[in-house]
Amino acid sequence: GEKWVLSVTAQTPTNIAVIKYWGKRDEELILPINDSISVTLDPGHLCTTTSVAVSPSFTHDRIWLNGKEVSLSGGRFQNCLRELRSRATDFEDEKRGIKITKKDWEKLRVHIVSYNNFPTAAGLASSAAGLACLVFSLAKLMNVKEDYSKLSAIARQGSGSACRSLYGGFVKWIMGKEDNGSDSIAVQLADEKHWDDLVIIIAVVSSKQKETSSTSGMRDTVETSALIKHRAKEVVPKRIKEMEEAIAKRDFPSFARLACADSNQFHAVCLDTLPPIFYMNDTSHRIISCVEKWNRHEGSPQVAYTFDAGPNAVLISKDRKTATLLLQRLLFQFPPQSDADLNSYVIGDKTVLK
Ligand code: PMV
Repeated sequence: GEKWVLSVTAQTPTNIAVIKYWGKRDEELILPINDSISVTLDPGHLCTTTSVAVSPSFTHDRIWLNGKEVSLSGGRFQNCLRELRSRATDFEDEKRGIKITKKDWEKLRVHIVSYNNFPTAAGLASSAAGLACLVFSLAKLMNVKEDYSKLSAIARQGSGSACRSLYGGFVKWIMGKEDNGSDSIAVQLADEKHWDDLVIIIAVVSSKQKETSSTSGMRDTVETSALIKHRAKEVVPKRIKEMEEAIAKRDFPSFARLACADSNQFHAVCLDTLPPIFYMNDTSHRIISCVEKWNRHEGSPQVAYTFDAGPNAVLISKDRKTATLLLQRLLFQFPPQSDADLNSYVIGDKTVLK
């Protein structure tokens, strides 16, 4: 019969860059101007859940994000869909009498339903989890038999940072050399068990949507900033090597110094853009001062901070005990108020102070 629906559900956590990706050398294929390194959060915390379904009764490709239907006409979704459809393979479920050939996949339409359990587009890398999850679940549905590195190259074409969310633990996105992007892929540097002392606390400074999208921000930066050239050529290659070493050795002081310096340089590059881009606000700056003071007082880094395209602080503490102290400090220095700028801390699976 033609009444069947075939579906797959997947969950993908977001990732936070500790060496940032900022700037494309190819906007269509999403090829970056430097390598980047990220940590993937534990599944279940900041993640996207996506269900994809296919049925002969569907007449159009459709997508619902957080309960609202949005247009699928954007080039990026279409690029991912096209790449996946071209790699779909035969599927058969004898019990249900479903048989889909490679050719059928070209004609069958899909429905996609996706939820984020955290603020969308507030600089918490929502697109990273979202596009990675979309590509992963569609690949499963369409019986795509490519390895993760190939899937990462497809997710990359949806959102650059998404390519790093297909793996857990520490992940490097290699910028690659090819013009067609075939070698611009993500690789896992270490799995999630490698350094599980680290505790990541996200201080949600504001859950408002960011004013400058990463796409237009990056474009402006690449076109107008002199600092970005220096960063991509002279600074990041060296930092990538040092960061890989710090991760391999679980060397927290080096890890923290590199992550903080790289976050600060990313925001300096934003300020060096015309028109200047301000992602951090006063609260973000106060959090940085607070962590810097603490680290200096202790004589070695206890906590690292990093900020993406928004004011929210991602704080990485060296162990659980330090994380507890960090929370106490945050609560003391940024007391919750009903109209507070900073109104929730996400700690693992618990959100306190909402
Ligand atoms: O993948 P995009 O277009 O959302 O860009 C992400 C850029 C940063 O989050 C600021 C840095 C990064 O490497 O994730």
